[in-house]
Amino acid sequence: MNSVLLQTVRGWLREASQVAVLTGAGISAESGVPTFRDAQTGYWAQFRAEDMATEEGFRAHPERVWGWYMHRRQLMVGVQPNAGHTALAEFAQRHPGRLTLITQNVDGLHQRAGSHGVLCLHGDLMEDRFLDLPRPCCHPDTVEAGTPPHCPRCGNLLRPGVVWFGEALPLAVFDAAQQAARACNLMLVVGTAGVVYPAAGLAHSARAAGARVVVVNTAASELDGVAHAVLHGGAAQVLPALLAL
Ligand code: APR
Repeated sequence: MNSVLLQTVRGWLREASQVAVLTGAGISAESGVPTFRDAQTGYWAQFRAEDMATEEGFRAHPERVWGWYMHRRQLMVGVQPNAGHTALAEFAQRHPGRLTLITQNVDGLHQRAGSHGVLCLHGDLMEDRFLDLPRPCCHPDTVEAGTPPHCPRCGNLLRPGVVWFGEALPLAVFDAAQQAARACNLMLVVGTAGVVYPAAGLAHSARAAGARVVVVNTAASELDGVAHAVLHGGAAQVLPALLAL
């Protein structure tokens, strides 16, 4: 970590009355949650996103896709928030009303670290919803066990409550995130490859609206070019050092 740059960014943070933070899978990497695009350990190195993270993929192979999400849920039982998640939650507690936390992650680790009002752009891994528009017979409490569980009367399948490729983001959540991006003086972009839109566009919006943009990442990202500063390092090291104000 470049300590001179770190001090500069800490100065920007002190000056900023509104801070927005956009996180991605990298912030949970040190908790033991695989990222998506790591060349060796990332999910998309082992699976095709089209198969596992689209409605078409689910309809074609519901058993396989449901099984993968259940595996990811199981994984979450054994992991804990890390010092990066905690540093963000504690900063927000010390500075009420100053930080908006926007995440692409569906793992719930920000919330488990004590962050409130997290704007979850891509949904929640732990939630289910019906694949097709629920009919009167479709009720979450009366689904029949299966892979996936389904309505015993009409067969409507449960699916994970995450946003798949090609699907719209939850409108109110995305609106709030855009407002925060446009209103902030400083945006931290932590642990995201910056390739998935519209989420990555929030960094462009922040910059266009006059905010300073700072990337925190262990490697190069697609958003480095938008940033005023890039802090290279793991989120669990960089964020506690940065946010101890
Ligand atoms: N600290 C900071 N950054 C890290 C760390 C770490 N310890 N470990 C990895 N990274 C960085 C990687 O260098 C990479 O830039 O985190 C980023 C992870 O990128 P992706 O795996 O592409 O995850 P993300 O950007 O969150 O993906 C966006 O894509 O598949 C979809 O819906 C999924 O929300 C996800 C979206």
